[in-house]
Amino acid sequence: MITRKDFIKKTSLIAASGLLFPSLLRANKESKPTKRAPNTNKSPLVIATWDNRKATEAAMAKMKETGNSLDAVEAGAWVPEADPNDTSVGYGGFPDRDGMVTLDACIMDKDGNAGSVTFLQHIMHPISVARKVMEKTPHVMLSGDGALQFALAQGFKKENLLTDNAKKAWEEWKVKNNYTPIGEKNHDTIGILAIDDKNNISGACTTSGWAFKMHGRVGDSPIIGAGMYVDNEIGGACATGLGEFVMKTLGSFLIVELMRNGRTPQEAVEEAIHRIVKKYDYKNMQVGYLAINKQGDHGAYSINKGFTYALHQNGENNKIDSDSYIK
Ligand code: GLY
Repeated sequence: MITRKDFIKKTSLIAASGLLFPSLLRANKESKPTKRAPNTNKSPLVIATWDNRKATEAAMAKMKETGNSLDAVEAGAWVPEADPNDTSVGYGGFPDRDGMVTLDACIMDKDGNAGSVTFLQHIMHPISVARKVMEKTPHVMLSGDGALQFALAQGFKKENLLTDNAKKAWEEWKVKNNYTPIGEKNHDTIGILAIDDKNNISGACTTSGWAFKMHGRVGDSPIIGAGMYVDNEIGGACATGLGEFVMKTLGSFLIVELMRNGRTPQEAVEEAIHRIVKKYDYKNMQVGYLAINKQGDHGAYSINKGFTYALHQNGENNKIDSDSYIK
């Protein structure tokens, strides 16, 4: 396992080798950089919350196939969405306190287009419904029954997403907690950001939200600027953890704006966590942020220890331990 510091040391050597061996950079020079930021040998890259290396792998493979970071983040999100053992995302996600699996997701592309679904039931891949909202409607967000109707009209299949395992956990929770909403330290929401060979950034975020939440609760993940935000001129950010904190501080938008004003991705994610801990009772709660900038640098920070992320860059797919406010 490597820490973020080890990783930075290693990648600065790789970047320096580009200076010594200019041929290593040729491929990037030949691509067409945007006006604001030159392409670097740090892209393509894919980064995802938690140890979602299977997701970053799938995203990178898709990016190689289509050359498009939007396809990549969607393909990455599909992995936990379809995984019955991932109890915080899609199929297999823990239900709300009434036993219903309700899903939130959002997606953004390089042009600032955005799509989102909230409180969506019965659809295995909410991220793809969010993409359809972005591409096929004049709206940004569809919710609940309307989102389901739209998904079915688009050809998505209605499925039972409550696995036996999730049902059992819910039944045990009901006995112990007597229907009181509870907090939990970790959410395994997947936020995923990618930069493609053309140096274009996209992002996605998908979750089943707070386990055993009140029926109707929607978290930060489908809220553009809270759970995820991309500005292709600057960078992108995404969040995992207690969505109520992320929404109240509009974390992902804040991080991108901090980078616009000159902060590094690491400085920006740390400031976003500081905004939470200054105001709220954070001690038993977890929020983790990831950020990337247009140059392919990244940052990661969380309130509590234990936040990890997956980074696919320079041909390597690593799990990395994030730094945290509480050491
Ligand atoms: N971050 C996911 C949620 O709070 O729903």
